[in-house]
Amino acid sequence: MNPDSPLMRIRELTVSYAVRRFPGFSQERLQAVRGVSLDLHSGRVFGLVGESGCGKTSLARAIIRLVKPDSGSVHYRDFDLSHADASRLRQARREIQYLFQDPLASLSPRRSIWQTLLEPLLHYRIGNPAGHRARVEQVLEQVDLLADILPRYPHELSGGQHQRVALARALLAEPSLIIADEPMSSLDVSVQARMLTLLRTVQKENGLAFLFISHNLAVVQQLATEVGVMYAGELVECGPVDALLHNPAHPYTRTLLDAVCKPGNAELSALPAGTPPSALHPISGCPFHNRCPHVMEHCKITHPHDNFLATATATGGKHIVRCHLWNS
Ligand SMILES: Nc1ncnc2c1ncn2[C@@H]1O[C@H](COP(=O)(O)OP(=O)(O)OP(=O)(O)O)[C@@H](O)[C@H]1O
Ligand SMILES: [Mg+2]
Repeated sequence: MNPDSPLMRIRELTVSYAVRRFPGFSQERLQAVRGVSLDLHSGRVFGLVGESGCGKTSLARAIIRLVKPDSGSVHYRDFDLSHADASRLRQARREIQYLFQDPLASLSPRRSIWQTLLEPLLHYRIGNPAGHRARVEQVLEQVDLLADILPRYPHELSGGQHQRVALARALLAEPSLIIADEPMSSLDVSVQARMLTLLRTVQKENGLAFLFISHNLAVVQQLATEVGVMYAGELVECGPVDALLHNPAHPYTRTLLDAVCKPGNAELSALPAGTPPSALHPISGCPFHNRCPHVMEHCKITHPHDNFLATATATGGKHIVRCHLWNS
């Protein structure tokens, strides 16, 4: 593989769910992700932001086939994960580790921390059994935990410790890519800051690719090399972090940034006025047109396509916006 080529290429990924209509309980499809394309690179962090329900988790789960996408492709290294057989998928799942929003739910209550951390080494046959204890202790040190935690069970630990155990377990599988889905939202603010520093250190030390998902643009901008903004299932803008922060192109991205500049308002949940369209009943044209301060007549009718704005000279990252204001 060419060292400059992306570790993962996601193209036109679309995810929907069958849901029951009320009343009557007949089935209909809810469109959670609509035609999302992005690249993930080794040694870089792609920060994905967007309001609750915009499809971030559905996208992340579809990448590793925890949900089956309707269409689109995911290429990891030289594998096409969309058509990979079970053994390829198993290998990819070792290399692509997932940190969940609620770390406690991802830890088995009946396993001690030692058993939890040993599991990836045994499952993936990593290293020599005589060296397992030393390897586990080495990774515990990397995530700022002491070895005296090993005989304990998840209910005997704090929220910050759960998330660090989950991170240690992910690192023991020797991943190339970590998908971190709101990994800090269940932690208190002081613990969040420590976890953020830890994630940054671990990512750099291991040269990992990261897909970091958050509601909080202020957090994402501290960690990310590239940022993607999702709205109503679509990636409406993406590009190098500097381009997005200094030259935001999509009106939605601009409102998010304005909100971050207002103290105490870094969470996206209260933004902007109005509500996103329902995933069950999408609106015509641009999905943001009913909230957009720059709405034009054809925004209400025609769905916008991706417009290319610039390429970052340092990384080759492309700044792309899905908005009629930028139609060339
Ligand atoms: N298993 C499911 N079955 C049916 N609908 C689902 C399912 N999972 C998610 N959805 C719907 O898909 C849409 C996207 O949900 P998703 O969990 O991907 O959003 P999100 O951006 O991760 O939100 P949050 O920030 O709250 O975690 C929502 O409308 C949600 O109700
Ligand atoms: Mg989510």
